[in-house]
Amino acid sequence: MKRNILILALAAVACSGPGLSPQDKLTVNDARINELIAKMTLEEKVNMLHSKTNMSSAGVERLGIADMNYADGPFGIREEGVPDGFRSAGWTLDSATYFPTGSALAATWSEELAYKYGTGMGKEARLRGKDVILAPAVNIQRLPVGGRTYEYLSEDPILSAALALYYTKGVQDEGTAVCIKHFAVNNQETNRGSVDAQLDERTLREIYLKPFERAVREGGAMSVMPAYNKVNGDYCSENEHLLNEILRGEWGFKGFTVSDWGGTHSTMGAMLHGLNVQMTGSNYLGQPVIDSIKAGKLTEEMVDEKVRQILRVRFAIDPVPADVANQVMTSQPESQAIALEVARRSIVLLKNEGVLPVKAGVRKIAVIGQNAVLKTQSGGVGAGVKALYEVTPLEGITRRAGDGVQVSYAPGYKSFPGRRRGPAPTEPNPLEAAAIDEPADPAMLAEAVSLAREADLVFFFGGTNKNIETEGSDRKDIKLPCGQEALVQALREANANLVSVLVSGGPTDLQVLEPVSPAIVQAWWNGMEGGTALAEVLFGDIAPSGKLPFTFPRQLEDSPAYAMGNFPDKNAGGDLFSLLYRPDVMKMTREERQKLIDSMPKPVSKYTERFYVGYRWFDTRNVKPMYAFGHGLSYVGFGYEKISAKASAKEVSVSFVLTNEGTMEADEVAQVYVHRVNSSVEWPVKELKAYKRVTLKAGESRKLTLSIPMDDLRYWDENASAWKLEKGQLQLLVGSASDDIRLKTNVNI
Ligand code: BGC
Repeated sequence: MKRNILILALAAVACSGPGLSPQDKLTVNDARINELIAKMTLEEKVNMLHSKTNMSSAGVERLGIADMNYADGPFGIREEGVPDGFRSAGWTLDSATYFPTGSALAATWSEELAYKYGTGMGKEARLRGKDVILAPAVNIQRLPVGGRTYEYLSEDPILSAALALYYTKGVQDEGTAVCIKHFAVNNQETNRGSVDAQLDERTLREIYLKPFERAVREGGAMSVMPAYNKVNGDYCSENEHLLNEILRGEWGFKGFTVSDWGGTHSTMGAMLHGLNVQMTGSNYLGQPVIDSIKAGKLTEEMVDEKVRQILRVRFAIDPVPADVANQVMTSQPESQAIALEVARRSIVLLKNEGVLPVKAGVRKIAVIGQNAVLKTQSGGVGAGVKALYEVTPLEGITRRAGDGVQVSYAPGYKSFPGRRRGPAPTEPNPLEAAAIDEPADPAMLAEAVSLAREADLVFFFGGTNKNIETEGSDRKDIKLPCGQEALVQALREANANLVSVLVSGGPTDLQVLEPVSPAIVQAWWNGMEGGTALAEVLFGDIAPSGKLPFTFPRQLEDSPAYAMGNFPDKNAGGDLFSLLYRPDVMKMTREERQKLIDSMPKPVSKYTERFYVGYRWFDTRNVKPMYAFGHGLSYVGFGYEKISAKASAKEVSVSFVLTNEGTMEADEVAQVYVHRVNSSVEWPVKELKAYKRVTLKAGESRKLTLSIPMDDLRYWDENASAWKLEKGQLQLLVGSASDDIRLKTNVNI
């Protein structure tokens, strides 16, 4: 076994052939792979097309082909599970680094940090003996209520695509393959296993596919996970258009696809339309494949091609020998340092009327709200991490405040535990609410108010938790839960020196909180060092520099899919996914379930808002959000001046001078939006096309030049089924946020 592993490792070195596209590099071992395939029996080949355990698919031991080992991401290597499920295996060395979650990473707007984050994930995967991480998760945040908004990156395709690309490169440069997910148009958890996302081709191409396209084409993503849902009628795991025409045909993908867990739907569909590996189970891509070949419905060559695609990745990724893997703790200091660096730059200062940073004279701080002590590493279903440690906001603040400052804490409100697995507890927990909209508890409120009254400064920690924002369901609304609104109002009456800190993955409705909060901070689910980074920002050791990767709507109904009546789907007939895959939950016979499924209206999600997603909608429709896409304040001001622009055949470049007008070093994320002047094509009023994070010392000025590749200015012409560039005049809008444009200039292309 060892000898064969060595051969594969040597072959992998040869994979870095010069001059080849990132995808074509995967084919350099094809001759050897074909020789191996010729030696394999049909049974051995088919055995590679489905799960071996819950987190592996088989190799062929006889020929020295190692199994493929998978681990969940996207923000930490998931703890080891038992072979036949997700239950913990009870290991002791599998505590991993918990990195900031997707929306937090995106709030850094930093390709450099996305790359480092990827290297951290890639390295820890190797320590655990994993070949493929089920990450990054890059779907567009279409709905403010989306259960996986916290895992995903942004509502904007340019930002999502850049971060997806650099995350992918970081992982794969460490010798681990990504499995980028969930391909594609997986923008809701409601009926995720059956919903048909119906959208036009232009919206699909320009918005929803962009992050995947860059990661595959430029990043050489080695594997792709088709999503649970359908797109325009076909399940993603058997979607000819997505998998064969676009992914393999147009983007030149040479690796393999792995269905989402339980997301394979048929033998013929999967075999003919682009799936390589069924996860989990073998009822479709196991014996039925062999039977179908015997019956003349499929050919062995089809199986060979799928095996070839899997083996390309097997050759590119060295298997970690069993006696090398899991020898040290998964979480390593260098990854923890990356988690801290990302957290520092992700925190968004939404509002500040002079309360922050904490003033030198502050001696008594009241920290109110259970989210100050909430650990966010696990929960939220698949994307949880068993972290080696986690610094909560309260710990971070207490440490940073030091001896001379008294920090007191009150829970303030009950937390919402969500639906429970197993039997209900015999004793109710006094800190847990029975319903998400349970009003504020009078005794807890009184305790919090009395602490606030005595303090020099109050930090209110509100937001959601991972029972509220979670895979498998969407939120009903974005209201602050469990009486938080009444509490923050009472705190403000008790003490005007109030900072509201929001701990959540997605946006919340701030209509009540905003007017009573002189300062508001979006702190995310920010990884194991989140509390440390937050304290540094609150106390002014560093200036805040995160920018919102999505719009905070004033109210949910303002957001595009709601305003268009597209979500929720009023005709949907219930959770087909549970019916299909969770007989344990549904407690029905197979026949009963099938009857019910057949009688149910099939859920549909119409994307008639088209490419007016997020700020594209708010800007074009002139709807004022609570906080706009790209918004994020600093402790310094930034001056923008001296804009100029020019266009060449390849790109548009825009230059301007950025000045830190404050008295401390700070980062700014300068943003360039494009507005089309007199266009004959329909466009949103403006679109992000370039951005740059820069660090400037106090008083420092720097000339920045940002370029927009001409390809990013094209649109998908539905009549021609092709990308087209519309010549004409562009207005370039440069600023600090989508609603804070400081400079404008025009250029002709
Ligand atoms: C999720 C995937 C995850 C997989 C394995 C699925 O339910 O949608 O994102 O990678 O489970 O845990």
